[in-house]
Amino acid sequence: MDRIKIRGGAPLNGTIPISGAKNAALPLMTASLLTADTLELHNVPRLADVATLLRILENHGVDHAVAGKRPGQTTETGQTIRLSAGTVIDTCAPYELVSRMRASFWVIAPLLARFGEARVSMPGGCAIGTRPVDLLLSALEKMGVAIEIEGGYVHAKAPKGVRGAEVVFPKVTVSGTHVALMAATLATGTTVIENAAREPEVVDLAECLAKMGARISGAGTSRIVVDGVSRLNGASHAVMPDRIETGTYAMAVAMTGGDVTLENTRPELLRSALDVLETVGVEISESNKGIRIHRNGSGLRPADVTTDPFPGFPTDLQAQFMALMTRAGGTSRIRETIFENRFMHVGELARFGAQIRLEGDCAIVDGVGRLKGAPVMATDLRASVSLVIAGLAAEGETEIHRVYHLDRGFEALEAKLARCGADIERLRAS
Ligand code: UD1
Repeated sequence: MDRIKIRGGAPLNGTIPISGAKNAALPLMTASLLTADTLELHNVPRLADVATLLRILENHGVDHAVAGKRPGQTTETGQTIRLSAGTVIDTCAPYELVSRMRASFWVIAPLLARFGEARVSMPGGCAIGTRPVDLLLSALEKMGVAIEIEGGYVHAKAPKGVRGAEVVFPKVTVSGTHVALMAATLATGTTVIENAAREPEVVDLAECLAKMGARISGAGTSRIVVDGVSRLNGASHAVMPDRIETGTYAMAVAMTGGDVTLENTRPELLRSALDVLETVGVEISESNKGIRIHRNGSGLRPADVTTDPFPGFPTDLQAQFMALMTRAGGTSRIRETIFENRFMHVGELARFGAQIRLEGDCAIVDGVGRLKGAPVMATDLRASVSLVIAGLAAEGETEIHRVYHLDRGFEALEAKLARCGADIERLRAS
């Protein structure tokens, strides 16, 4: 298995192009199943999760073409993918594929909406808590879908088609909102989704669905209304910038010091995280090129943070912020409210000399002056990148094992950091 080796201590200076958002690309690709026409997606990141979803769509019979690189494009520029679900040959999504990535379960919604039937394996993905699908299934049941669970598979049927309904989520769920939204586009009648997720990725999906002919209002608020239509058409859509990648590199610069402009991204996608970074002593300015992150030699102040659904502080930046606070001059409290068991990075950060203790859903971080490089193990997608950030600032050498987690969500990570001065390399498994 590949490893990443980092010699820490170098500040980061330069520009980093931000890729298309993984968490938007996945539902957008899934939406291709809603139409027999071609859906063209631009700015799709080159990631293992995208490749996994392409295999799942292929298994359903979706044709896909990935456009070749154009002159001037680098491996850091997103790709264009054309997806055509003209002939769907199978409405079953098998265990071998779905178990690799939780988001692949979402194919259940377009398959049901267009074909009235789907058989989808229960999902897998990052080991961050139990991550059930009960809310997704009860939303579908509300929409007239009969659900049976057998042998690890969800068998969902709506022989007369999906029905518009009032879906009230008892807690905010991004996956639930994506699924209800996709199912509602081809339902008979009107669907109202209450307590909907307001995440920008939901808005991106809704915008693409609207281009495909869906009738949606309220995306980005907690009440989304969808008037079902009988068919959707093809469309062309550019995936929004990755706000988690943006926040991750912002925290890397905050950690090492330096001056980096994050290009092709937008501050409003991660306002809460940028506000916290300013509180701890990072200088941030915005221009039409992107977001400039600057920290000189001055120390970092501690801060208390609680993760929340958008527009709150994202859970997907919690591990990275914890890495940052290990170097603050004082004590920070970081509370995780979205996922239980999302503190697996704590033990690994301790290997750098970090002082962190857990009290229930709260991590209490006592800042230490310096971190020391260490061999560490990546445990999940966002936790892994917190180890990269710690390694960049630590004295000496860090070796990160199991980096396949990073490849699921960060496009050209080493190249982007190396061009800003980081001493980082991938050691390929022989
Ligand atoms: C998405 C993101 C993930 C992010 C998360 C929260 C993708 C591919 N992944 O995950 O990176 O961390 O949003 O912003 O977009 N829940 C239930 N029952 C359900 C569904 C969810 O109890 O049926 C719980 C989850 O266990 C979790 C909470 O609800 O505790 C939020 O989950 P959800 O918003 O659905 O996260 P994902 O969509 O899986």
